Amino acid sequence: MKNIMVTGGAGFIGSNFIRFLLAAEPDLNIYNLDLLTYAGSLENLKRLPNSDRHHFIEGDICDRDLVKKVLSENDIDLVVHFAAETHVDRSILGPEAFIRTNIRGTFILLEAVRKYWKIDSRKIRPDVHFHHISTDEVYGTLASDEPAFSEDHQISPNSPYAASKAASDHLVRSYFHTYGLPITITNCSNNYGPNQFPEKLIPLMILNAIEGKPLPIYGDGRQIRDWLYVEDHCRAIWTVVQSGKKGETYNVGRENQPTNLEIVQEICRILDRDLPDSQFTPHENLIVYVTDRPGHDRRYAMNINKIIGEVEWNPQVNLKDGLELTVAWYRENSDWVKKIRDQQEYQSWMENNYHDRSIS
Ligand code: NAD
Ligand code: DAU
Repeated sequence: MKNIMVTGGAGFIGSNFIRFLLAAEPDLNIYNLDLLTYAGSLENLKRLPNSDRHHFIEGDICDRDLVKKVLSENDIDLVVHFAAETHVDRSILGPEAFIRTNIRGTFILLEAVRKYWKIDSRKIRPDVHFHHISTDEVYGTLASDEPAFSEDHQISPNSPYAASKAASDHLVRSYFHTYGLPITITNCSNNYGPNQFPEKLIPLMILNAIEGKPLPIYGDGRQIRDWLYVEDHCRAIWTVVQSGKKGETYNVGRENQPTNLEIVQEICRILDRDLPDSQFTPHENLIVYVTDRPGHDRRYAMNINKIIGEVEWNPQVNLKDGLELTVAWYRENSDWVKKIRDQQEYQSWMENNYHDRSIS
């Protein structure tokens, strides 16, 4: 029986990963350490398959003693580290939490794992492995004619969020080179799918469109992202954990290049088809162009040759099907949506981020 510590498993990708793993693998226990910040919710962990093998621990990755206790009391073999502050816009309005959790939290976790792994100067726990989840944003931005990011692309983060993730990637890498701690890293492009917190582009646009609220496009809406369905990301992580080479970084993405505007238009088309009698059809009429995000990266694109060649992973869900599944999920899960959006914190955030973005 393998014992896995997942950090941030009450968030979007972490909860999808836990759901995926409990269904796919019979021989493992999951210890899920999550602080339940605004972005984490026990609602994401309802109706898990084989839920007796999932153990939730509410707590902070910056709490040294707690991390140490979770590792030793549960005989952990593998740490999969998702916990982070993740929203670029929040990192612009308040970067400090990003430095604390993403940099300091990763450091505390690494130190605890290193001490747990290395019993004394001659003895280690040979099965211990630390897998770090990171982002394409550490590479910075691309012009329209530049080749996609490969793993050896220069690290040039442009937002406090991206800078904090880059710092955490460097720390994880350094623990392999300095101490020999067995680590792997995945840098993934934009995810979407069930349970994504509705401050991010796709769920925000789906929910606003259904309710007839404005669809706020930053700047000209021609920024490009490489969108990956979350289940494909979860399989990629698990494949790298099992077959990736220790000390290595693997890019994960879908190799698609839509503009933000095209994504929002596709969501509107799906809703027009499914809700022909809605007073808001055609939903595209709800689009408004608002003041751009400061330092907004223009284009991300991922070169995924390494992961395809070395660990035999391939994305399976194309963007069109993934958007259909995602719109359907948000329409079918109005209870989840209501519980998440009823929180005062969410409403304050929406007010803070959007109230003085002038409309053009
Ligand atoms: P999320 O914001 O939905 O969830 C983050 C989770 O971490 C929440 O459950 C929160 O409660 C928890 N958390 C935050 N601070 C914590 C702390 N100090 N201690 C313990 N738990 C804490 O995030 P997500 O979108 O699921 O992203 C997960 C990881 O994947 C992050 O590391 C992110 O950088 C990375 N990533 C995300 C995307 C994406 O598109 N969402 C793409 C690539 C990489
Ligand atoms: O690329 C991976 C990253 O993707 C992850 O590391 C981050 O954790 C995740 O939040 C995501 O970052 P983005 O900034 O790309 O995601 P977001 O959904 O916030 O924005 C996607 C694009 O849509 C971006 O170009 C900004 C734009 N946008 C976003 C919002 C919320 C708008 O035009 N209007 C909006 O209201």
